[in-house]
Parts: sequence; structure tokens; C-alpha cells
Amino acid sequence: MTALVVYESMFGNTHTVAERIARGLGGATLVAVAEATAEAIAAADLVVVGGPTHVHGMVSDRTREGARQQAAEPGSGLTLDPDAEGPTLRDWFDGLALPAECRAAAFDTRVHGPAPLTGRASRGIAKRLERHGATLVAPPESFFVERDNHLSEGEADRAEAWGASLARSPATA
Ligand SMILES: Cc1cc2nc3c(=O)[nH]c(=O)nc-3n(C[C@H](O)[C@H](O)[C@H](O)COP(=O)(O)O)c2cc1C
Repeated sequence: MTALVVYESMFGNTHTVAERIARGLGGATLVAVAEATAEAIAAADLVVVGGPTHVHGMVSDRTREGARQQAAEPGSGLTLDPDAEGPTLRDWFDGLALPAECRAAAFDTRVHGPAPLTGRASRGIAKRLERHGATLVAPPESFFVERDNHLSEGEADRAEAWGASLARSPATA
């Protein structure tokens, strides 16, 4: 199986989660949105896409500005991911062409709490993947950060285990 993990990240947590999912998949190719070219996608038979939850959904240019402001606050302890300036997943989906019979999965990072209260970006990501003709191999998954925007304990390990479960998953969720 050739798997591609595509991530968007502002503070680096989704980047870390994506790295561990790729490892769990047995060494999938890991790319930021800007590097997820048509060629990279065409070479993959499983595409796993994830991003942070912002204002109950996927990141937008406006919420990115909010994230930059949070990182700039004195004592925030936050640094911007090197890929925080590239295209958003929303932009990427606008120009996306997935190969026929593409298998896919969606994930996000978000704060702890029931999804109806926090929102979850993975829902929008999964919807867009399906709209582009992909078959989801697993329900959308969330990985949690603390209120200070740092990854909760055990979540990186859980991400790796989720990646491994995707590698074993049948064709449909
Ligand atoms: C502008 C902004 C809005 C946010 N809105 C939400 C939200 O509605 N629900 C939620 O669970 N987390 C929210 N968060 C927390 C993010 O989900 C968290 O920062 C993100 O998962 C960290 O991922 P990253 O390090 O890859 O950017 C928000 C964060 C920012 C900066």
C-alpha cells in the first residue's frame, strides 16, 4: 500500500499527529498541504488528510490570523509551524482532483469536549473527500490538545495506533 498523509498545522500539533499517523501506516509519505501535488496524490492508494479545528470547523485565512495573534502573545509558549503560511486545506480542496477509487481518511486536532460543543474539522474534511469521490476507510478521528494548545498526553501514541488501524482497514468505513 502507498499511503500519503496531508496535514495543515498552525502550532505544530497536527503536524506531530500526522507524523505519527504516517509512522503507524508503516512509513507513509508525509506532506504539508503545499506539497500535496496532483503527482503525489496520483501515486497514493490511501490519502489521509488532517488539520486543526478552528471556530468549530476547518482553518480559514481569518482564523489563521487569530492563531498568529495567539502565538505572538507574551508567554504563549507557542511557535508557528514552518508550514503555517502555505495554502489552507480549504484552498487545496478547491483545486483537488483525486484519482478514481481513491481510499481516504480524515482527522483533526481540537480541544477536549463533546464534538457538538467544540466542532471538529475532520467532519468538513471527510465531507470534502467524499464530494471528490473518495471512499472513507474509517470514521473521522480527533486528537486532543489542552487549552494551552499543546498536545495532550498519549495522543501522539494514539495517532500512531490509528495509522496502524488504517493500514489494516477494509475498503469502506
Ligand atoms: C483561532 C482559533 C480558533 C479555535 N477554535 C477552536 C474550536 O472551535 N474548537 C476547538 O476544539 N479548538 C479550537 N481551537 C484550538 C485548536 O483546535 C488547536 O489550536 C489546534 O488543534 C492545534 O493544532 P495545531 O497545533 O496543528 O495548529 C482554536 C484555535 C485557534 C487558534
